[in-house]
Amino acid sequence: MHVRFASARPSTATAAALLTSGGTEAPDRLATLLSVPRALIDRAFLAARFEGEAGSIAELLAPQGDSVLRVLVVGTGKNGNVEDFEKAGAALVAKLLTSGESVLTVEFGATDSASAETAARLAFGAVLRSWRQDTYRTKLTAKTRPSLTDIILVDAPEGSEDAWQRLVPVAEGVAFTRELVTEPANILYPESFVERCRPLAELGVEIQVLDEAAMTAAGMGALLGVSQGSARPPRLLVLRWNGGPEGADPVALVGKGVTFDSGGISIKPAGGMEDMKWDMGGAAAVVGTMKALATRKAKANVIGVCGLVENMPSGTAQRPGDVVTTMSGQTVEVINTDAEGRLVLCDALTWLQRNYKVKTIIDLATLTGAIIISLGHEYAGMFANDDGLADQLLAAAKTSGDPLWRMPMGKAFDKMIDSPIADMKNVGGREGGSITAAQFIARFIDDGVRWAHLDIAGTVWTSKAGTLWDKGATGYGVRLLDRFVADNFEG
Ligand code: BES
Ligand code: MN
Ligand code: ZN
Repeated sequence: MHVRFASARPSTATAAALLTSGGTEAPDRLATLLSVPRALIDRAFLAARFEGEAGSIAELLAPQGDSVLRVLVVGTGKNGNVEDFEKAGAALVAKLLTSGESVLTVEFGATDSASAETAARLAFGAVLRSWRQDTYRTKLTAKTRPSLTDIILVDAPEGSEDAWQRLVPVAEGVAFTRELVTEPANILYPESFVERCRPLAELGVEIQVLDEAAMTAAGMGALLGVSQGSARPPRLLVLRWNGGPEGADPVALVGKGVTFDSGGISIKPAGGMEDMKWDMGGAAAVVGTMKALATRKAKANVIGVCGLVENMPSGTAQRPGDVVTTMSGQTVEVINTDAEGRLVLCDALTWLQRNYKVKTIIDLATLTGAIIISLGHEYAGMFANDDGLADQLLAAAKTSGDPLWRMPMGKAFDKMIDSPIADMKNVGGREGGSITAAQFIARFIDDGVRWAHLDIAGTVWTSKAGTLWDKGATGYGVRLLDRFVADNFEG
């Protein structure tokens, strides 16, 4: 989707959107803008039961000289906040993407609450909602293929284009994350995940990759135990963006990158197992964020670490009851081979802390089905050992649109993962399943490190279209982390 800015409606426009908060002056203003009788506007509003709610649309056809313009009046809500403009942009695209229209103008003239920021967020919503992946659809017809290619903001407030340019990198980061999450596991596995990230080097991201031998040498027995049943070799992917002052404390982002989670020997049921191609959503959020930060040349030092493995059953797979030694030296009794995410994260976290002086770590992982029971698909769960960090993340969640809810931790939950044979076991029972998973990870965080764990199992993928996405990958985490870094690590 191309976003452009213009001072007047170009003749190539096939559809036009007009914005309104639903105020009583709207019909008159729109009638004048379109040179149509006021009654036409009134009738269109009635027909659509349109009252200007954010993202609601009333449609009409308006004669313009020899041609007829398809007009969509879109609501921006009574409060005129940025989220509502984002919603309006997204709603227009949802409606027009495969409609046959190719060029949409969005006309700002005298719109309530229009500002550079709201105009940019309208474009942001439009571009996020336009993302789809048609790579494997070979039979799209003219009717089902996306037709909308251009959105032109006409008469947008002063500064809109600059405000939009600041959001473009974030949209690109979200798109990258969605692409990785969407790819099936026969295409995207640890090695090919790394290859997809190679182009980030052109943006100035430093890339380091540990192969199986390097991870063996480092002693990553937990991560390698997960990987050993798979024919696909594992990788540890490390990305560094040094946009901040030299020596400034870096922030670290760590992602679970299980490119397919069959459950291993503790195999999952067949129904829905295909969903486990997106068990690398944490890693995808990390690299999407790195892309956004590098593209917008963020003034911060950021390290991204992705533990990339495939969890498969086979003759070489680890067994329930196996005891593995993590890179930290702590031992783990593997009760359930399907609780593999924490086994991958613990070694990625130890590697990070042994190799870099970091005071802040955020990990992201599609870690537990239990978090979906707790929070549904509306919030990701956050676990943190530091109230200040938790509050920073909650604030970023509010303004970015990637929602978070803080969950509790504590000694009683920690005890639930004690093992009779090793230092800990990898599951704590059904009760509080997301919390005991977080307690497991906490055992690998060094003293003095501020750490937060985001369980994003419920927010990476959706079975129904939302405001800013179609069915499928949401790109969760990129907007959140971009905001978090911008607010707390860029001076
Ligand atoms: N990747 C899954 C968690 C998951 C489940 C993500 C459903 C998205 C949707 C994770 O590796 C897993 O299998 N967790 C187990 C843990 C259990 C064995 C303690 C789970 O949630 O059932
Ligand atoms: Mn699993
Ligand atoms: Zn998993």
